[in-house]
Amino acid sequence: MIGLGTMGAGIAEVLAAAGRTVIGVDADQAALDRGRTIVETSTGRALERDKITADQRTALTERISYHTDFAAVADAEVVIEAVSENLELKRSIFTRLGEVARPETLLATNTSSLPITDIAVASGRADRVVGVHFFNPAPVQRLVEVVKTVLTAPSAQTQALELVNDLGKTPILCGDRAGFVVNALLVPYLNRAARLYQDGCATAAQIDEAMVAAGNPMGPLALIDLVGLDVTVSALDRMYSETRDRRHAPVALLAALVSAGRLGRKTGQGILLQAEPRPAPLI
Ligand code: 3HC
Repeated sequence: MIGLGTMGAGIAEVLAAAGRTVIGVDADQAALDRGRTIVETSTGRALERDKITADQRTALTERISYHTDFAAVADAEVVIEAVSENLELKRSIFTRLGEVARPETLLATNTSSLPITDIAVASGRADRVVGVHFFNPAPVQRLVEVVKTVLTAPSAQTQALELVNDLGKTPILCGDRAGFVVNALLVPYLNRAARLYQDGCATAAQIDEAMVAAGNPMGPLALIDLVGLDVTVSALDRMYSETRDRRHAPVALLAALVSAGRLGRKTGQGILLQAEPRPAPLI
């Protein structure tokens, strides 16, 4: 696993829970410590909810090792990258993977918004590259989108689908287009909810209560805080640039909160978390 933030640590937990040996890599010791804490907190919750036993938790956490040296992945069978949504950073990581990983290694990116083809070509072996898009929280959500590009070899596609099945998740195969399947449907809904809130059409609590009462596990504003405002805005940006559909342009409030560093749960503040009261409803 390259990158042990919210998604990377969650995916590392899923891999270790399925019995895989996980080599976790991040930029520095502080990032590794944060990743380890995410795994410990999540597996602690799983233990409290009787999803795993104490022995299984110990075995799971011991299967994950932590490294700052990129070369640690040289012998990996599969490398999954889950660093922040920055195309140049991801491309530079795939260039290095092309140098250090074995030729037959499956290389995967967990991007939710960037063009996988652009990331794949940087590796010099785009036929071995796929997207594996996990959902947040990775240990809980069943779905994983497996994304193939025009350059992905059928063997790499099959290997990725088999891996996801082996992890006990449900894969769906899709092409490299903005939003894949789920975010193409979900992210415009989140943007719309942010607009209702921004415009003072209803309070945050009313919007979220409405959608929970309508049968969703959580409201859209709480979901924006969970997935991250930066991730939501990145997905919207790509969808807007590909479609030019104004409904996909991130609403001003989301963009402003990202500029202010209020990215949701990962920073402790977001759209709902510690939000100031918005104006009373206009209509
Ligand atoms: N490990 C294992 N299981 C866990 C767990 C953990 N760390 N945390 C929770 N669970 C299990 C619980 O045991 C429970 O299982 P059960 O139904 O079999 O009893 C289930 O998950 C739900 O837990 P709870 O009902 O106790 O409610 P929580 O408050 O813990 O649930 C939630 C939180 C799982 C986040 C739930 O609200 C949810 O599913 N929300 C929707 C999240 C969603 O839509 N995610 C997708 C976002 S889109 C995305 O990520 C893509 C990106 O690119 C934008």
